[in-house]
Amino acid sequence: MLDTEDIIKLLNEDFVRELETSMIYVYNSFIMKDCDPSRVTEAISVDEMRHMWWLADLITKRGGKPTMEHKELDFSDDDLKSMLKRQIQLESEGIDRYNYQIEVIYDDEVVGVLKHILDEEKRHRKEFKMRLEGMD
Ligand SMILES: [Fe+2]
Ligand SMILES: [Fe+2]
Repeated sequence: MLDTEDIIKLLNEDFVRELETSMIYVYNSFIMKDCDPSRVTEAISVDEMRHMWWLADLITKRGGKPTMEHKELDFSDDDLKSMLKRQIQLESEGIDRYNYQIEVIYDDEVVGVLKHILDEEKRHRKEFKMRLEGMD
């Protein structure tokens, strides 16, 4: 069974992923030329920042500190299709991580928050998929 330290470690990995995702979405929303996907990506970047806040709250309540040490980010996508594909990929990775963590973590508060985040990531992926499919 995962102890508090293990849970803090997992939550910090989630936190850093939310941080990276927020920054990529903010940047992509600046350079997307089409108004609708840009606005949607911008609004979703705010959701990701809110996820950071929720995770940081869980981390600090358990005696941990949120880590801001993200990996070097790749901002090379410059056409709408590749940006949307990357965003869908990021959402899918998040969905897999949260699905797994909900199964292995026995802490009701953490699981409740992760389920809420998971629902939002599913909605995000759907929003991005709809825009990608609308392009063909
Ligand atoms: Fe998120
Ligand atoms: Fe998301």
